[in-house]
Amino acid sequence: MKLANRIIAWQRAHGRHDLPWQNTHDPYRIWLSEIMLQQTQVSAVIEYYQRFLRHFPTIASLAAASSESVMAQWAGLGYYARARNLHACAQRIMKDWNGIFPSDANGLATLPGIGPSTAAAIAAFCYGERAAIMDGNVKRVFARYFAIEGDPTQRATELQLWQRAYEELPSVKTCVNDPLAMARYTQGQMDLGATVCTRSRPKCLQCPLEKSCLARRTGRTEELPWPRKRKVLPERSTRMLIACHAEHVLLEQRPTQGIWGGLWSLPEYEGHVSTEQACAQLGLAPRHIQTLTPFLHVFTHYRLTITPILACLSERTPPKEQEQDGVTLRRWVRCNTLHTLGLPAPVRKLLEGLQSDQLLS
Ligand code: ADE
Repeated sequence: MKLANRIIAWQRAHGRHDLPWQNTHDPYRIWLSEIMLQQTQVSAVIEYYQRFLRHFPTIASLAAASSESVMAQWAGLGYYARARNLHACAQRIMKDWNGIFPSDANGLATLPGIGPSTAAAIAAFCYGERAAIMDGNVKRVFARYFAIEGDPTQRATELQLWQRAYEELPSVKTCVNDPLAMARYTQGQMDLGATVCTRSRPKCLQCPLEKSCLARRTGRTEELPWPRKRKVLPERSTRMLIACHAEHVLLEQRPTQGIWGGLWSLPEYEGHVSTEQACAQLGLAPRHIQTLTPFLHVFTHYRLTITPILACLSERTPPKEQEQDGVTLRRWVRCNTLHTLGLPAPVRKLLEGLQSDQLLS
């Protein structure tokens, strides 16, 4: 039997069927899930996905929302460019596409945040289009099945994988006979990669492709796919000022470009600036300053050691305004309203920890 037909039969019997973005053909719901699932595991996405849909039940409501409220719903999921693109995409669909998603993968791939694999997945799930996907999990399945050498994040290896993905699509006949074949095949590849053909200790005995998988037949499932070359990440450090007074903390909105773009975070300053100087620059006169235990946060491109500095104030002076495009980017925020703002996950964790230690109330 062809690879595709085996995956389709396996998906029917053993794949996942009850994920919140399944059993629908609504492009809005499917698009949202595919964007959230980029670089993020199913278990981490489910709660965000459901809450996001409660806040923004339609593409029109998402397009009309403020970027701040979109970021607030995304905060914690990471890779924030996805949220900015999501919002931009919703607005583009309202403006240029009459509020209706493009009806094929080519059209979808012209939109912000939708690459070729995401476009193909949406088109397969929504419209049954014969389109090939190639995400991290699927790369692993194909690299093993065809014993494809090379780092799958490198262009040359990726091209070989895409080539195989096109060649192995279910036949036109299969798709005509079964309108759900492409949705099943697409989901099946993802399910197989996530649950059977796992990076370590794959469950080959449960795999529908076992008999013809080249890596399995040659005892090379541990070697394939080649691991990505691990870069040594550069180390950086910063200090974060927790200026507090009477249940309020000073936050500032980060520039839209760059790390944590658009999120609300703590003011930062570098090692050569004293805390007194940093406070003075912000127009603050602390009564008491305390250095807290540093902690590490790892980004894709560097490792950041964060030293939190708690500065208790006797009064809440209006923060020195920092204008960007006429918008005030600093404000005093009541601690019990922090959950309404989009905060980077480590900053939220830090502030919540201080609240539960009653250092911040
Ligand atoms: N990862 C990307 N898309 C997915 C989907 N539809 N189901 C499970 N995991 C996925």
